[in-house]
Amino acid sequence: MTTIRAAVLRTAGEPTTVEDLTLAEPRAGEVRVRIFASGVCHSDLHVRDGDWPRPTPIAMGHEGAGVVDALGPGVRSLALGQPVALSWLVPCGVCRACRADRPWACPDSPSFRHRMPDGATVLADEGGSAVLSYCGIGTMASATIVPEAAAIAIPDGVDPAVAAMIGCCVTTGVGAVLKTAQVPAGASVAVIGLGGVGLSCVMGAVLAGAARIVAVDRVAAKLDVARTLGATDALLASDDRAATVDALRDLTDGGPDFVFEAIGLPATVELAIESLPLGGTAVLVGMTPVEARASFAVYPFVDGSRRILGSNYGFADPPVDFPRYAALHLAGRLPIDRLIDRRIGLDDLEAAFDRLRAGDARRQVVVFD
Ligand SMILES: NC(=O)c1ccc[n+]([C@@H]2O[C@H](COP(=O)([O-])OP(=O)(O)OC[C@H]3O[C@@H](n4cnc5c(N)ncnc54)[C@H](O)[C@@H]3O)[C@@H](O)[C@H]2O)c1
Ligand SMILES: [Zn+2]
Ligand SMILES: [Zn+2]
Repeated sequence: MTTIRAAVLRTAGEPTTVEDLTLAEPRAGEVRVRIFASGVCHSDLHVRDGDWPRPTPIAMGHEGAGVVDALGPGVRSLALGQPVALSWLVPCGVCRACRADRPWACPDSPSFRHRMPDGATVLADEGGSAVLSYCGIGTMASATIVPEAAAIAIPDGVDPAVAAMIGCCVTTGVGAVLKTAQVPAGASVAVIGLGGVGLSCVMGAVLAGAARIVAVDRVAAKLDVARTLGATDALLASDDRAATVDALRDLTDGGPDFVFEAIGLPATVELAIESLPLGGTAVLVGMTPVEARASFAVYPFVDGSRRILGSNYGFADPPVDFPRYAALHLAGRLPIDRLIDRRIGLDDLEAAFDRLRAGDARRQVVVFD
């Protein structure tokens, strides 16, 4: 048993608390990972604010990286000291999606029960009560226990903060472009919302060889970052949706071939669909509160052979994709480090959530010594 420090959500809508918890020893098929970095993703904020109902108490965090520091019996794929990034989705392997080689669409992942695959919990609070681990990895903690399949080896030399972001926003955004949408070279792309996920869509569009990349946000500073990543044009969104649609059309000869929505608001989902040209594709990456609905005019959508794609986790197969994204980063072709806004301590998490709510932050990363 080890004592760790973790950010725990006890009641959605109320502040998280930093607590000392006991962490069990890794059992068969499990590894203990000492966490070095955990990104603050807007999905954590959705959970914190109660947009998505989740069981509590739960150790937060799903975008983490560190080093393997204990192995349970029978673990063969990892060695002590191996740097890893953690996957927030371990596919069940037997459902219809898994059988069709679409692990990113698995609805029955044990990760979604926030426990180990056999239902066990690995954390307990000072009173001895069980604490769940968000997505079975609970990365906003100085250490965690995860199923072997959730710990993906990352090559030496990758900054743990970068590796952490490969665990969620990079894989989500780059994968949405390269895997979900399969954007061809020369296409025009717009990205609406420039947080960690949207900026990763911009990096993906650069890798795909998109000719025009229009970055859209309501915060001007985000547009500057997008330009440094390779966006060719930047558009400050206003509340006047029609004006934004017109500006997007003007910049892209009638509308972008691909529009990525990376916020998760019905209004910007509708904006993405409205701005499509004939044959264009809207890729929905942002996640709304669970009850949200959006609408669109059906006739022109069908008549113009437009498409809407949903993209979970960038269609990731983490053991294949994480090392690829890490290699692209090491080769200088995926400047993930430019997404990092600031490195913070666990005690700053609530302030980090405030900044995220205000749209003031790129990727804030919680770091542990
Ligand atoms: N599909 C997936 O698998 C997946 C994975 C990770 C995150 N997500 C979701 O992606 C979304 C984005 O995550 P993030 O961490 O990058 O968030 P973020 O809060 O860092 O970024 C959102 C950006 O949108 C901008 N924005 C907000 N409202 C706007 C508006 N009306 N018009 C223009 N810009 C606006 C903000 O200024 C900010 O730059 C969240 O909903 C998150 O839950 C989805
Ligand atoms: Zn995330
Ligand atoms: Zn499955």
